[in-house]
This record gives sequence, C-alpha cells and structure tokens, in this order.
Amino acid sequence: MEIKIHPTHEELSCATAIKIAHHIGRNPNTLLCLAAGDTPLQMLAELVKMQNRGEVDLSSVWYAQLDEWVGLGINDKGSCIQVMTDGFFAPANIPAERICFFDGLADDMNRECRKMEDWIAKHGGIGLVVLGVGMNGHIGFNEPGTPDTPGCIVVPLDDTTKTVSKKYFDKALPITEGVTIGWRTLLDANTAVLMASGIKKAPIMRAALEGSVTTDVPASVFQDHKNVTVMLDKEAARMLNYCHMSL
Ligand code: F6R
Repeated sequence: MEIKIHPTHEELSCATAIKIAHHIGRNPNTLLCLAAGDTPLQMLAELVKMQNRGEVDLSSVWYAQLDEWVGLGINDKGSCIQVMTDGFFAPANIPAERICFFDGLADDMNRECRKMEDWIAKHGGIGLVVLGVGMNGHIGFNEPGTPDTPGCIVVPLDDTTKTVSKKYFDKALPITEGVTIGWRTLLDANTAVLMASGIKKAPIMRAALEGSVTTDVPASVFQDHKNVTVMLDKEAARMLNYCHMSL
C-alpha cells in the first residue's frame, strides 16, 4: 500500500487525475470504476481539462458506475448518476454506450446487480477503481459489516450514511438502501486508488490504514490490495503515524 500525502485538496485532485490519465494511456480499453461524492469532483474536472488539452482520451475507455441510492434516478439531484453525468460524463463527452450504471428506480434491483456484473465480466474486470471513503469507512455503499459477497449487492444504509447523505440532496428523501459493486469485486480491480480530504476524514483514515483489516471499517480491506495508492490531503492524513513519520 502506497500512501501519498498532498498539501491541499487541489494538489491531491491534480495528482490523482494525472495518475488516472497515465493508467488510461497504458490501458486504452480499461474499465474504470469511479466513485461519485464530493471528494473526487475536482479531480474529475481536472481530467476533463486534461482531455481538452489533448493529454488524455476519456472516450477510449469503459465505465462501471460504482453505486446508487435505491429510489433515485438521473433526474434526482444528488443521485450518483446525476452527479457523475453533470460533473464528468457530459463535460467529457463520454458516449452513453460506454457507461453502465445502476438504475436506482428499476423495479428489480437484483436484475440491476446482474447487469453490472455482466458488464464487468464482459470488459475483463475492473482495471482501475477510484474510491472515496465515507465517514464510517464505507467504500461505495459497502457499509460497515457488509458481507464478503462477490458481485453487486443491495445494502441497508447505516445511520451515518443517512445523516451525511443530506448534503447531496435539495430536499428530504426517505433513502434506506444503496446498490453497489461489492467490496470483494472492488478488491479484484487491477489498480485501486482511495481518496480522502479534510480533517473530518482523519479519524476514519487512521482506522482504515493503520487499524486492523475488518469489514467494520470497509476501506481497511484495501490494506490487502496488490496495487493500491491512497491519495490524501494533509488534513485527512493528520492522525496517521505514517504522516508524522514522513513529514
Ligand atoms: C459515492 C460513494 C461513496 C463516497 C463516500 C465519500 O459514489 O461511493 O462511498 O465516495 O461516501 O463521500 P464524499 O466524497 O462526499 O465525502
């Protein structure tokens, strides 16, 4: 596990965008799995700028959307697909046929799970996964205690996620479940990047990176990933022993 600490969120965003662009350059048919949420937004905007400067071709690769709130669709502000479409897929001109996402409004969520599993298999597995880390250590919607299930799953959201989720929405929503690529399948990705920013993430990043590997802190399972880079800003790294050793 490589841990990189950047002075600011902006530098973290630029460095992560460059890392993704290098991966695409080396693997132009790769399957990317990108988290939504606040943390990667600036990084995604940087990738679009890099494409506009001719430094990367974002339309050569394939996309598997990591997760979705069950009950929300593309027209709901704060849904993962709305955030990703407005912040990345549309400005980057990614053709719709390159993207597979969970339809949170579908009648049959199990079918959505099988659809995503088939997409991942068809593209030879996930080449690069870029994850944010929730306040409770979740990755995607793999909440604390989510079992070791291969493929995709529907997960009851825990109270921390329900409370934090209010920041994404413009009205109160009775969200109770998420659908997500399960952590076991995320761990199978060839390359993984975990991103975290801000002092509020410092305690959970300490637990995830320096605590024991446990599904109680889902991000900790990436300690065992063969090729993972953890991209932090200084604030998110503040409670790491590693940080005190390296600064
Ligand atoms: C979103 C997702 C979530 C977020 C996490 C951090 O697609 O998968 O796991 O990455 O909740 O969210 P932010 O970045 O808003 O702190």
